[in-house]
Amino acid sequence: MWMGGSLTNWIAMITMKLTLLLIVAYFFHCEGAVITSSEEQPAINNRPIIGILSQEQSFYLQGKYPKENYTSYIAASYVKAIEASGARVVPILIGKNREYYRDLMSKINGVLFPGGATYFNQSNGYADAGQHIYEIAQEFNEADDYFPIFGTCLGFELLIILASGRREKENRIQCNSSLSRPLNFTNDFRDSKMFKNAPQDLVDLLAYYDITVNAHQFCIVDENLKNFNLNKDWRVTSYSNDDKGVQFIATIENKRYPFYGVQFHPEKNSFEWKQSKNYPHSSDAVRANRYFMDFFLNECRKSSHTFRNVDEENEYLIYNYEPKFTGKIGSQYEQCYFFEPRRHRHCTV
Ligand SMILES: *[C@@H]1O[C@H](CO)[C@@H](O)[C@H](O)[C@H]1NC(C)=O
Ligand SMILES: *[C@@H]1O[C@H](CO)[C@@H](O)[C@H](O)[C@H]1NC(C)=O
Ligand SMILES: *[C@@H]1O[C@H](CO)[C@@H](O)[C@H](O)[C@H]1NC(C)=O
Ligand SMILES: *[C@@H]1O[C@H](CO)[C@@H](O)[C@H](O)[C@H]1NC(C)=O
Repeated sequence: MWMGGSLTNWIAMITMKLTLLLIVAYFFHCEGAVITSSEEQPAINNRPIIGILSQEQSFYLQGKYPKENYTSYIAASYVKAIEASGARVVPILIGKNREYYRDLMSKINGVLFPGGATYFNQSNGYADAGQHIYEIAQEFNEADDYFPIFGTCLGFELLIILASGRREKENRIQCNSSLSRPLNFTNDFRDSKMFKNAPQDLVDLLAYYDITVNAHQFCIVDENLKNFNLNKDWRVTSYSNDDKGVQFIATIENKRYPFYGVQFHPEKNSFEWKQSKNYPHSSDAVRANRYFMDFFLNECRKSSHTFRNVDEENEYLIYNYEPKFTGKIGSQYEQCYFFEPRRHRHCTV
């Protein structure tokens, strides 16, 4: 009796769901919209907007703009790399409260933690903002709200340090890596999310040519993962060697969440030109490195977050700021965006 009743209900429910699905599919089909109505495949968002986390103003650039007292900056190459793969960018400021990050993340489709040079121990800085974002992204993903993060260089190190739990002795080693290198792929890298669908010609370029740009003084090595039992959640997909032959992790991904990290700089091949750095700019180097933001943007297209309307979108987009030509004044970055000039505060009490 009970079984029979439950079965009838179940059949009725399935029938209702199927009917609804057909109706929805019919209407959207007429609109010509691309929809996928099964639960495994989220609808594709072809207007993704990506947040890039800013970081503390660099010592060098503060020296170049002493009067402006900028609080933070973003190297424009990260913005351009995301634009080239089909998205727009909003800057994410440092030094805000958790609600600021949560609110912004509810409107955007993914976050890039860029590289650079800043300490993780400064309060209200890049690492604190990164921690809010990392934790909120975990909450979103746990609630089936797909939300990717991509960490480049310092941003990759931050991902691993956040995953280990921040502490005084940070979970990374010192190294010296200033050369372009190939990727030494792991045996099972083709099982990863990042490389499952990577074209073989690009994989071959990455594996056999010195085209991934390294510029880091810290490395994440196997030992760092082992020490904090991170292999459970993180899959290493390739290694490179530093200038002295130390093998470090070059690409990694989280098994549970759409979180990805690369130790090298895929944005520099196309968008950074400092001559003394000898970045590889060949057609092959550009093409192969372009893969990483293309991959990330495909992940971000699975997020359906939007701003309330175009006006609100326009309030946030990075086009509200004008990048400066920092290459001309000796910076390693061709162009940078700067944020929040810190005004001299007078005592008003
Ligand atoms: C942060 O770390 C750096 C490098 O280890 C150190 O020089 C600096 O004093 C630290 N700053 C704070 C606020 O602890
Ligand atoms: C990195 O290079 C600097 C300068 O060449 C050197 O002083 C330092 O010991 C090197 N560090 C490592 C970990 O190799
Ligand atoms: C590639 O990585 C494997 C696994 O860690 C290592 O045994 C091998 O020596 C590396 N090859 C090169 C060329 O560095
Ligand atoms: C920039 O900071 C310096 C030192 O704190 C201060 O004297 C100056 O007034 C600031 N500039 C502006 C425009 O607020």
